[in-house]
Amino acid sequence: MIKSNICLTMASKLVVCCEETCMATSTIAQRLEAIRRFNRFYTQQIGVLTEGYLESSFSLTEARVIYELAHHETTTATELGNELGLDAGYLSRILRNFKNHGLIDKQPSPRDGRQSLLRLTEQGQAAFAKLNARSHADIETMLSRLSAEDQHRLVEAMLTIERLLGVQPEQKVPYILRPHQPGDMGWVVHRHGVLYAQEYGWDEQFEALVASIVAEFIQNYDPKRERCWIAEMNGEIVGSVFLVKKSDTVAKLRLLLVEPKARGFGIGRRLVDECIRFARQTGYKTIALWTNSVLLAARHIYEQAGFRLVHEEPHHSFGQDLIGETWELNL
Ligand SMILES: CC(C)(COP(=O)(O)OP(=O)(O)OC[C@H]1O[C@@H](n2cnc3c(N)ncnc32)[C@H](O)[C@@H]1OP(=O)(O)O)[C@@H](O)C(=O)NCCC(=O)NCCS
Repeated sequence: MIKSNICLTMASKLVVCCEETCMATSTIAQRLEAIRRFNRFYTQQIGVLTEGYLESSFSLTEARVIYELAHHETTTATELGNELGLDAGYLSRILRNFKNHGLIDKQPSPRDGRQSLLRLTEQGQAAFAKLNARSHADIETMLSRLSAEDQHRLVEAMLTIERLLGVQPEQKVPYILRPHQPGDMGWVVHRHGVLYAQEYGWDEQFEALVASIVAEFIQNYDPKRERCWIAEMNGEIVGSVFLVKKSDTVAKLRLLLVEPKARGFGIGRRLVDECIRFARQTGYKTIALWTNSVLLAARHIYEQAGFRLVHEEPHHSFGQDLIGETWELNL
């Protein structure tokens, strides 16, 4: 009796086990298929199956490499390869192609002579800005078809996927730099007017001065020797700087501005560094700039970059008593 009971229990356990195993197997198979179906759906949804990604001449991998370059001040092929899990030979062909098309610049690394420091050139930044704007617009269109609540659910679901699959915290700079494009000058004038009024009480005479500076920049723009850099964070403009020709040997740094919400990430310093690098590359001997003693964070950045205060003078402008300062950096 006892024996047959044991047999019965074992048999029923066996049935349960078998059912659990079958259920587990079919659930795994279903999960696998669901994930594969989702992958097929989403790759089509975001247009990665088309030959030129986002209607550009780049493949998806090239676009991904250019994205990484845009989000680092400088990087190396090894870092890029590790971050993207790309085969070294394949990556090296992509980078050679970028170099041949003038999209990246390579300089020997001061820390490791075997490595080159890679950065996007002006042309590379412009190419990335186009891809970025296109991707932004496509996702905006996708989101616009959903209610605010569904947009929230979608983003939460995506964050859940990232968390579950163990995404590493990003090591990149949280912004990109790009050359100016239509509409940017209006932003520069508007934000200078608003922020200097809020932060320093300057009146609209300052906004008028900024308007005249940007108008002159656009009307007399010399692309070989002048530049404007616009910083963007999450698709929004958050900063600007200009380097303009004062004479054949002297460049002038102007209109450095970073939105309060984007300050403290190193954007201001990076914008100044870009001006210095470009000025050196294009053969200027000196960079000069005019600032005011109340602009403490900017003075700190100029000082750290090696600029020296060469002249100061009190003046009454923009409704305030100010001390104007001229700073110079010998290149
Ligand atoms: C100046 C400005 C562009 C800096 O932008 P940012 O993106 O915050 O700059 P960064 O993050 O690269 O660096 C800011 C530096 O200033 C320092 N700083 C910030 N506030 C400061 C202050 N009140 N006094 C001294 N240093 C200050 C920070 O500590 C940091 O230096 P660190 O890296 O050595 O610690 C931004 O503050 C701004 O737009 N100010 C108003 C406009 C302006 O003054 N423009 C200059 C025109 S000449």
